[in-house]
Amino acid sequence: MDLGMDMWKYFGITHTDHTVMNPLSLEKTQELVGLLRLPEGGRVLDVACGKAEFLCLAAEAYRVMATGIELSPYTIEAARKNVETRGLADRIELLHMDGGEYKPKAPESLDLASCIGASWVFQNHRGTLAALTKMTRPGGLVLAGEPFWMTDPDPEYLKFTGDDPNMFGSHAGNVTVGEDVGLALLYTQVASPDDWDRYEGLQWQAAERYAADHPDDPDVEALLRSARRSRDAYLRWGRNCLGWALYLFRKP
Ligand SMILES: C[S@@+](CC[C@H](N)C(=O)[O-])C[C@H]1O[C@@H](n2cnc3c(N)ncnc32)[C@H](O)[C@@H]1O
Repeated sequence: MDLGMDMWKYFGITHTDHTVMNPLSLEKTQELVGLLRLPEGGRVLDVACGKAEFLCLAAEAYRVMATGIELSPYTIEAARKNVETRGLADRIELLHMDGGEYKPKAPESLDLASCIGASWVFQNHRGTLAALTKMTRPGGLVLAGEPFWMTDPDPEYLKFTGDDPNMFGSHAGNVTVGEDVGLALLYTQVASPDDWDRYEGLQWQAAERYAADHPDDPDVEALLRSARRSRDAYLRWGRNCLGWALYLFRKP
């Protein structure tokens, strides 16, 4: 989608009010963190870590050392602030770089490797699970956040967004992909319509507020055009056909 403005600025503005930058609620994210049972001194990697909320929750729950990778210049700043405010800078390292370029110091060394809501970094869901699996030690965890089709998308929706129907699978299909790459499924955490509405609605509100507060910003027109177009696509079609889940796997 051509946003008509700098992509990082657009997502920086539309995600101003998000703590977790994906459709799952903070509460459900906390619940999932509680299931991880990470070992003392464990190593965690989160690719496309957003504001590092997931890593902060993991580091608060377990004595782990974590690395977060984030490419957006806006979001990495928000992540640094979050980590520093919570006194976790000695245990969470943040790297401003393309997640696809990152190589851990040793292969098969991580206790948890995750990528939540950015599977394009490794081409797709399968590529993401395969890449994360290579970095994870046997017995370690692999976590991916990925959309899924709840029903076949309306052709009008695909025409409107320019999306390819094969860009996502079904919920069960997302699990099968993990099994295909040799992982064992432990848990799925699925977003509810309320969770999705919050994720989308916070974007509309942030875009409209920014536009009202910065009338002289030359990007305001493009910001509102893209944000409202995305809102319309969600309200007319996405809300009924698109799901979202975290998939937690164990590497045998
Ligand atoms: C949907 S958000 C999810 C953020 C975070 N995982 C979360 O759930 O809160 C996707 C994130 O991927 C980041 N991103 C996009 N392309 C990236 C890349 N090639 N390498 C690292 N981060 C990337 C974006 O800046 C954004 O913060």
